[in-house]
Amino acid sequence: MIAIGCDQGGYELKLEVIKYLESKGLEYKDYGTYSSASVDYPIYGKKVAHAVADGECERGILICGTGIGISIAANKVKGIRAALCSDCFSAEATRLHNDANILCMGGRVVGPGLAVKIVDTFLNTEFSNEERHARRIGMLEE
Ligand code: RB5
Repeated sequence: MIAIGCDQGGYELKLEVIKYLESKGLEYKDYGTYSSASVDYPIYGKKVAHAVADGECERGILICGTGIGISIAANKVKGIRAALCSDCFSAEATRLHNDANILCMGGRVVGPGLAVKIVDTFLNTEFSNEERHARRIGMLEE
């Protein structure tokens, strides 16, 4: 199960990402926001982060205008490694090296075509399991 959330700056892109998830038959839970009305991104960043941290969902996708505020919010939750990505190289590397569990994007930064390729890369890349990367991830929790 994939947790997805956004603020108003990410709302339109979230709809595109949802369309993509549905086309792939991937299950998701939408934590809001559900319109373009102004809201506070920390609320949605934390909702999705808790869904992932509590094990309700395996991965998360968060979108605000820049992807920055919502990634900061998500990373406040213990056990969350939220990665802001605007390219496929970073999306692949953050899975391989950081075992990132939430992908963040900026709705005002990336277009829908690139965004779904980033999502696809993020969801289809497994953690490398290399000792040095596992060790460094462990250090993040100290
Ligand atoms: C909302 O205008 C905007 O500040 C928000 O979407 C995000 O970019 C914050 O980092």
